[in-house]
Amino acid sequence: MTTAIIGTGNIGGRLAANLVAGGVDVLLAGRDLGAAQSLAASLGDRATAVAVEDAVARADVLVLAVWFDTTKELLAQYGDQLAGKVLVDPSNPIAPDGDGGFVKTIGAEESAGRILAALVPSGAQLVKAFGTLSAETLTSASRRTPEPAVGFYASDDEAAGKAVAELITAAGFDPVRVGGLAESIRIEVFGDLHEFGALGGPVGRAEALAAL
Ligand SMILES: NC(=O)c1ccc[n+]([C@@H]2O[C@H](COP(=O)([O-])OP(=O)(O)OC[C@H]3O[C@@H](n4cnc5c(N)ncnc54)[C@H](OP(=O)(O)O)[C@@H]3O)[C@@H](O)[C@H]2O)c1
Repeated sequence: MTTAIIGTGNIGGRLAANLVAGGVDVLLAGRDLGAAQSLAASLGDRATAVAVEDAVARADVLVLAVWFDTTKELLAQYGDQLAGKVLVDPSNPIAPDGDGGFVKTIGAEESAGRILAALVPSGAQLVKAFGTLSAETLTSASRRTPEPAVGFYASDDEAAGKAVAELITAAGFDPVRVGGLAESIRIEVFGDLHEFGALGGPVGRAEALAAL
């Protein structure tokens, strides 16, 4: 299974580091090939920088570690080329509120996962994952002991969900499925299972299952 990450920023970079530490080979791509090359060089032999087109062509699992609107653009741009692939979406639909906080950029009852699910090209499967914890926590809670921190995901397709659950494990978290993509609002920012929601931080499996 070939794993690629598009977006070499905060989430893409930290997730790449977690996956490499877990023994996963990753292709890294972004708008700026030089940034992807620098990140790959810092991560060692398991990370390889490629052009976005190559990441799309070669990946079985493609993590879209870019902002929500960019994900929409990439889905439209690559269309049929995404058929047969598992697309992983960590996006949170938020923007600065101009007052030091954040505001949701879509309707209160909407989720990025549901909106993107309707835009996914035929034959591709969307899985929501890696957006429930802040970038800092994605690093600090990876391979936590004694009890691993949960990595929530939402998926409509069993095989796609299983592939992403394996990546969550490799990234140093305990995978817990919240449900289908209709439930992804719960693991996005402002959702009850998000790090900054009712759970108040990364949790272990028992606490996660009790909250489902
Ligand atoms: N940061 C967090 O704590 C956090 C937590 C949970 C979820 N998320 C979600 O994760 C996603 C990424 O967030 P982030 O914090 O990693 O953002 P970021 O640091 O700004 O990184 C975004 C990356 O996307 C790249 N990019 C932008 N447009 C692109 C395009 N057209 N093609 C390819 N790459 C493109 C950027 O490249 P350039 O550097 O060239 O602009 C950058 O590498 C967002 O959807 C966010 O909501 C973030």
